[in-house]
Amino acid sequence: MDRVLSGNRPTGRLHIGHLFGVLYNWRDLQDKYECYYEVADWHALTTQWQDTSKIRDNIIDMVIDWLSAGIDPEKSVLFVQSHVREHAELHLVLSMLVSLSRLLRNPTFKEYVAELRIKKQTPKKSVLKTAIKDAVDVFIENAVKELKNGERGFDLDFIAYLRSELQKSFLESFKKALQEEEQEELPYGSLVNYGFLGYPVLQAADILIYKAKYVPVGEDQLPHLELTRELARKFNSLYGEVFPVPEPLIAEIPKVPGIDGRKMSKSYGNSIEIAEPPESIREKVSRMYTDPLKVRKGDPGHPEQCPVFTLHKLFNKEEVPEIKTACEKGQLGCVACKRNLAEKMIAYLEPFREKRAMYEKDKSLVVDILKEGSRKATEVTSKTFADVRRAMKLWE
Ligand code: TRP
Repeated sequence: MDRVLSGNRPTGRLHIGHLFGVLYNWRDLQDKYECYYEVADWHALTTQWQDTSKIRDNIIDMVIDWLSAGIDPEKSVLFVQSHVREHAELHLVLSMLVSLSRLLRNPTFKEYVAELRIKKQTPKKSVLKTAIKDAVDVFIENAVKELKNGERGFDLDFIAYLRSELQKSFLESFKKALQEEEQEELPYGSLVNYGFLGYPVLQAADILIYKAKYVPVGEDQLPHLELTRELARKFNSLYGEVFPVPEPLIAEIPKVPGIDGRKMSKSYGNSIEIAEPPESIREKVSRMYTDPLKVRKGDPGHPEQCPVFTLHKLFNKEEVPEIKTACEKGQLGCVACKRNLAEKMIAYLEPFREKRAMYEKDKSLVVDILKEGSRKATEVTSKTFADVRRAMKLWE
C-alpha cells in the first residue's frame, strides 16, 4: 500500500474549518493508504519557542479532535514529531542541500516576515509610499463601483463600510509592498530566527523520512511540497536513489467561513470549535455576518453570498433548497435562519462533544495512542535513516 503523510502543528482545539478541510479527508484516506499523521511540535516551536507551557496540552487537545473525527489508531499511525528523532536528523542532512536564497524566496517565509514587520513597524519610507498609493487606487475603484451600482445610499453604514474597506486595502497593499521590496541586506534580519527559515526543510524531512508517496495538504502548503520534491531529487542525484518524489493530494475542500464571513481561522478570532458547547454555538451564530444588502426581514437575500447559508450547506443539507428560495423571496428573516442553523450545528456536533468528554476523563488513552504511534513510526524512520547513512557513506 502506498504511504501517505500529513501533519498539523499543535494549536489546541480545532475548529469546523479543520473538520471539513482536513480531518474528513484524512479519515477517508485511511482506507486506501498506509497513513501517518503527525503532530508537528518542532514546527510549532519555530514560531512559539518563548512560551512552551501549553504545547503538551495543545497536543492532547488537538489529537482528541482527530480521534473524534474518525482518525483511527487501528488504521493509521498517529505520532508526535519530536518523539521520532529521525525527523530532526534528516532535517539536518537536508539543510545542507538547500541554498539560503531558495529559502528566502519561499512565499510562506516572505509573508510571515511581512506580517512581523507590520507588527514591529520596520518598513522603509518608499515601501509605505507605494503601499499607500496602491491602497487608495483600489479603494476608490471599489467605492465608486458600490455607489454606481446604486444599491447603497450615502449613509452612516456606508461610511463605516468605506472606513473598513480602506483599512483592509491598505493592509493588503502594505503587505504586498513589503514582500516585493528588494534589498541588499535583510532589513528584517533580527526579527526572524534561523529555525523558522528552515521550516519547509523540516517539513521535507517529515515527508521523506517515511518515503511517503502522497501528501494531503491545502493549497497554502504547495510551495513546501515543491521544495520537498526538489530535495528528494537533489539527494537522489548526489548520493543515489533513496527517496520517492512525493506528490500532493489536493482534496476538494469546501470553504468554511468564520462568523465574520472571512475564512475561518483561529488567528482571526472568528472560529467555531468542533467541540464548541451548545450555548456558545448559539451565541456565535447569532453574531454571524450575513448578506449586507438584506437589512430587514422582508428584503430579498443573496444566499450564495451569505456565510450563514454556506454553513447550512455543511450542517443542514436537507433544508438548503427551501432556505435558498425563502431567503431569496424575502420570506425568511436572518434571525430565524440563524436560530435554525445553530440547532442543526449543535445536533451535528454532539457526537464530537461526547467523544471529547470521554477522552478528557482519561487522557492517558490519548497518551498511549501517541506513544504506540511514535514507536510504530520509528520502525519506519530508523530504516530510512539507515538508508541515508549508507547512501551518504557516513560512518555507520
Ligand atoms: N506546515 C504544515 C501546516 O502548517 C504542517 C506540517 C508539518 C505538515 N509537517 C508536515 C503538513 C508534513 C504536511 C506534511 O499545516
